[in-house]
Amino acid sequence: MSVGIDAISFYSSHYFLDMRTLATARGVDPEKYSAGLGQERMAVLPPDEDVITMAATAASFAVSRYRKDEFDFVIFTTESGVDQSKSGAIYVRSMLGLARETRVIEMKQACYSSTAALQLALPYVETHPTRKVLIVASDVARYGLNTSGEPTQGCGAVAIVVSASPRLIEFDGISGCVTDDVMDFWRPNYMREALVDGKYSSKLYLHALDETWEKYSKLSGRGLRDHARFCYHLPFTRMAEKAHQRLCSAHYGNELSKSQLEEQIGDSLRYNRVTGNSYSASLYVGLTSLLDNSKEDLGEKRIGLFSYGSGCSAEYFSGLVKPGYKDWLFTQNHRELLEGRTELSYEQYQEFFSFTLPTDGREYEVGKYKTGPFRFRGLNRHKRKYETVSVGYATSNTSPS
Ligand code: COA
Repeated sequence: MSVGIDAISFYSSHYFLDMRTLATARGVDPEKYSAGLGQERMAVLPPDEDVITMAATAASFAVSRYRKDEFDFVIFTTESGVDQSKSGAIYVRSMLGLARETRVIEMKQACYSSTAALQLALPYVETHPTRKVLIVASDVARYGLNTSGEPTQGCGAVAIVVSASPRLIEFDGISGCVTDDVMDFWRPNYMREALVDGKYSSKLYLHALDETWEKYSKLSGRGLRDHARFCYHLPFTRMAEKAHQRLCSAHYGNELSKSQLEEQIGDSLRYNRVTGNSYSASLYVGLTSLLDNSKEDLGEKRIGLFSYGSGCSAEYFSGLVKPGYKDWLFTQNHRELLEGRTELSYEQYQEFFSFTLPTDGREYEVGKYKTGPFRFRGLNRHKRKYETVSVGYATSNTSPS
C-alpha cells in the first residue's frame, strides 16, 4: 500500500520587510542579502499572530477537503512554542473543529522535527489506511536586531495531511539519518532570540548532507540522476544552492551550470526567498513552492529531500510525485497571500519585533492587525485567548474558559 502526503498548504504573515530596507538601516550593501544570502523579503508577524494562528490558518486549507472525524492525530512541530506544557496541537484542533477523539502532541528538534513527525505518521496510516494524520509545522525565526542572523529571520507554517493512497507524494521508507551532539544553534528557555554560530552551523549542515545522502543512496541504490528535483532545509536560499552544488560536484566532478541549478532547485526556493526562514516548516515550504511553481508536470518524478535541524539531526529521503497532483494543490491561496501582503517600514518592523506581552497575569487585549481567519486576542490570568475573524473583524471566541 502506498502512503504519503495527500494535501499540503502554507501560510505566512500578511506583513513583510524588504531586505533593501533592512540593508539601508544596517549600512550593508543590499547585494549581500540578495546575492550573498539569496533573500528578497522577510515575513514579520504582527502582535496578534503567533505559531498557533499561523498553523491553524495553514491547516484550514488542507483539512477543508476532509471530514472533521477523519484525523487520528494532530502533530504540531515547532521551536517557537507558546507553552512549556500544553501542546499547540490542542489549540489547532479546536480552531479547526476536529473531533475530540483526535490525539494531539507537540514535537521539537529544531528544524528537523516535522520530518520526524512525517516518519512517525507514515507507518501509522499504513496500519490505519482509512485514517489521516495532520502535521502542522509552524515557526518564527528570530535572532535579534542588528545580529548577523537578523537577515535570515522570517516566519511561516505548513500543514501536511498524511494518508494511505496519497494524491500528492508517496514515500518508500528509505532514508539516511545522522544525529550529533553539537551546539550550532540553540535557544535557552530564558531567551526570546536564538543563539547561532552560523558558519559552524553551515559546515555541519553540509557534512550532514554528505553523510545522509551517502547512506540514503546506498540503501536505495539511487544516484542524483534518479531525482528530477531537490528540496533542502532553507535557513536562507543560498544555503540550498551551496548544498546542491556540493552534492553535484562530489557526484559529477563539477558544479552545475546556472540554468541546471535553477531547473533542479529554483522552484523550491521561491516562497522562502520572500518569507525567510520558518525553521521546522522550511523544508516543506520549499516542497510546497516546488509543487506550486513547477511549469513542468512532476507526476511520476522523484524529489530528493534533505532535512536538517541544528543540535543536530538530519535525514535524506525522497518522494515520488503522483500523477494528477496539480489538481490537489492550494496554489491560488498561496499566491493571493504572498501578493496581498503589506510592506513594513523599518520603524514598523522594529515595533513588531519589540512587542512583548505582560507577564503579571492581568487581562490584556492585543491590538488588531491584518491576520488570517484566526488571531491571538490576548491574555487573561496567563491564559492565551484566540478568536476567529472575518476580513479583520472578530466574529467568535475560540478560546477555552
Ligand atoms: N555582495 C554579494 N555577496 C556578498 C556581499 C556583497 N556586497 N557581502 C557579503 N556577501 C556574501 C558573502 O561572501 C557570503 O557568501 P559566501 O558564504 O558564499 O562566501 C554571504 O554573503 C554572507 O556573508 P557573511 O559575511 O558570511 O555573512 P555574515 O557573517 O553576516 O553571516 C550567516 C551570514 C548566514 C552565517 C548568518 O546570517 C547566520 O548565522 N544566519 C543564521 C543561519 C541559521 O539559521 N543557521 C541554523 C539553521 S541551519
